[in-house]
Amino acid sequence: MTALGAGAGARRILICERLLPRTGDQCRALGLPGRCAIISDSNVAQLFATCINKSLVSAGFRPIVITIPAGERSKTLKQAGAICDQMIAAGLDRQSFVVGLGGGMIGDISGFVAAIYQRGIPHIQIPTTLLAMVDSSIGGKTGLDTRAGKNLIGGFHQPSLVIDDLDVLKTLPRRQFNQGFAEIIKHAVVADPKMFRMLRSWKAGAAPALQRLIKRNIQIKSKIVAKDERDRTGKRALLNFGHTIGHGIERAGNYRKFLHGEAVSLGIVAACAISVKRAGLPADQRAAIVDLLERFELPTRLPLKFPRKKILDAVNFDKKFESGKIRFVVTPRIGAAYVAHNVTLDDIREAVEAL
Ligand SMILES: NC(=O)c1ccc[n+]([C@@H]2O[C@H](COP(=O)([O-])OP(=O)(O)OC[C@H]3O[C@@H](n4cnc5c(N)ncnc54)[C@H](O)[C@@H]3O)[C@@H](O)[C@H]2O)c1
Ligand SMILES: [Zn+2]
Repeated sequence: MTALGAGAGARRILICERLLPRTGDQCRALGLPGRCAIISDSNVAQLFATCINKSLVSAGFRPIVITIPAGERSKTLKQAGAICDQMIAAGLDRQSFVVGLGGGMIGDISGFVAAIYQRGIPHIQIPTTLLAMVDSSIGGKTGLDTRAGKNLIGGFHQPSLVIDDLDVLKTLPRRQFNQGFAEIIKHAVVADPKMFRMLRSWKAGAAPALQRLIKRNIQIKSKIVAKDERDRTGKRALLNFGHTIGHGIERAGNYRKFLHGEAVSLGIVAACAISVKRAGLPADQRAAIVDLLERFELPTRLPLKFPRKKILDAVNFDKKFESGKIRFVVTPRIGAAYVAHNVTLDDIREAVEAL
């Protein structure tokens, strides 16, 4: 079993197969008290909630299971309030903890609930998507969406324990699995040329290789986050590579046309075009990045009729939250990135039109 400890943000991260049945023991080892809420979504609860519940009960805990509808539409303040109400009704107090069982959506809302319930109780994350393992369960950000946009409400709350059981990925639909690779490729481009080379010869299947890959990505994200935990100095912004335009694409597609990782893949392609122009990224490296995204069946071109204008409107909307400035992450070569100040809205328009 791989265990990551201090420095990774979360106090403890376990990566291995057959971990779910050991959840109760792991929580016991942390010295957590007796009551807890397992928060999950309607797809994931069906698959794994019974196993987690059983494991917690046999370790002496008294869990309740709270299931919310699967999908991003559940990530709201209203839903978080309803979860808190159920926890209050079940008598969970300050000595309780939350187990978030699901993908990034559940990670974000369960983390939010853990951050505010009784002014904050421990959070255990059991990510069930690749994206959640390599990205959303790391860094302590929790978030909720509002009608105006995604993740506009949230707080920082580090999980006490993250349990990455590789077995859960077996039921994950292929498209969902592949979108996790968009964030992995992003990590390689901004910080790890060696992992980039390794991914070019990646063969699906072997658990030890997947375990090493997840561990490496957690280390990359943790290292970047550790330099700027509260996202204040711009260092954490490197993780936004591909996301300025990616978010615009998600929004323009009403969050239905593309999964997050797919929109990020397209955003990476556009960010590479801008990097060639503004940061001297060699054309062959740009081609290698696009090729790698395609190897993982990620989109690298927008459909002909996609409303490109809407993407620019959305980028403009995002910009309002950055006091009018464009902080655009570029890569001068695979394995490096920085926040550029010389990228213009025209550059973005040109890159989006070429997608
Ligand atoms: N907090 C952060 O730092 C951070 C970072 C990146 C993304 N996020 C958030 O993460 C969310 C996206 O996460 P996601 O892509 O994991 O989406 P998700 O949680 O919505 O899961 C995607 C789908 O897969 C299903 N699913 C999950 N695990 C499964 C399994 N093992 N088997 C079968 N089906 C399974 C879910 O029910 C859902 O339908 C977004 O809300 C995004 O804002 C947060
Ligand atoms: Zn992302």
